[in-house]
Amino acid sequence: MKVSGKNIVITGGASGIGKALAERFHAEGAAHITVADLAEEPLKEVAKSVNGLAVVTNVAKEEDIQNLAAKAEEAGGPIDIFVSNAGIIRKGWEDIPNDFWQLSWDVHVMSHVYAARAVVDKMVERGSGYLVNTASAAGLLSQVDASAYAVTKHAAVGYAETLAVRYGDKGVRVSVLCPQMVHTGMTKGKTDSVASVDGIITAEELAGCVVETMDKEEFLILPHPQVREYMQRKTADYDRWISGMQRLRDKYLGDE
Ligand SMILES: NC(=O)c1ccc[n+]([C@@H]2O[C@H](COP(=O)([O-])OP(=O)(O)OC[C@H]3O[C@@H](n4cnc5c(N)ncnc54)[C@H](O)[C@@H]3O)[C@@H](O)[C@H]2O)c1
Repeated sequence: MKVSGKNIVITGGASGIGKALAERFHAEGAAHITVADLAEEPLKEVAKSVNGLAVVTNVAKEEDIQNLAAKAEEAGGPIDIFVSNAGIIRKGWEDIPNDFWQLSWDVHVMSHVYAARAVVDKMVERGSGYLVNTASAAGLLSQVDASAYAVTKHAAVGYAETLAVRYGDKGVRVSVLCPQMVHTGMTKGKTDSVASVDGIITAEELAGCVVETMDKEEFLILPHPQVREYMQRKTADYDRWISGMQRLRDKYLGDE
């Protein structure tokens, strides 16, 4: 699907990947863009730069996503593309507090469920629509230093799979975005982390890959193409893959 002429919603739109997607979609000729985020001031600036609408939204709350969808429809008509992109990260393992595990679930998984509930029936009725959910390479290949992130990003990939199975042949395209490291606020000062093993790309480079992959309507959006090969190695020999991850853990975390 071409983004040109489409009415698009992007969550996590105040910065990083969401902001770069808004700018790229605008440059590609999107008809209308609504950006959503918790951070009001930077959100308004992004909306202004794309002649779009800013809707302050907590994606962890279903009523906020319903409100977002309603405002986006009011402003630009039926929603053609919904990009569920907001995300959070915190280092740690079992020691991560329960409330952050729950928040990670709400932000990385339930927000995608709420978005689908808000728009998918209408997309099926029209026989056209596109759900793009941002997960992470950590959702395919795990992560050596952020359990709540890795686990809920796996769930985000799993949820996108069920959407594609349910709606993919009913006119609703589904893609899941799984990058390794991208230069954004989330990764500032973390450039020697394991996620940067294959290099760090800019959010603008990533946005180019998203547009190209959406054009091809492929399920996996992999701005770091090596991820596909790592997935193949993982499924070919799971135990060997875990040993490799343990070596990466030692290389990046030492005895931590
Ligand atoms: N940067 C990377 O290396 C990288 C790699 C893989 C995946 N990702 C994913 O990409 C997405 C975008 O992250 P980014 O790198 O642009 O980081 P970022 O921190 O620049 O952007 C994330 C945005 O999400 C917003 N947000 C957080 N919680 C929210 C909530 N409850 N409601 C609404 N907005 C909320 C933040 O305010 C922020 O503007 C995230 O889902 C992240 O997990 C990032």
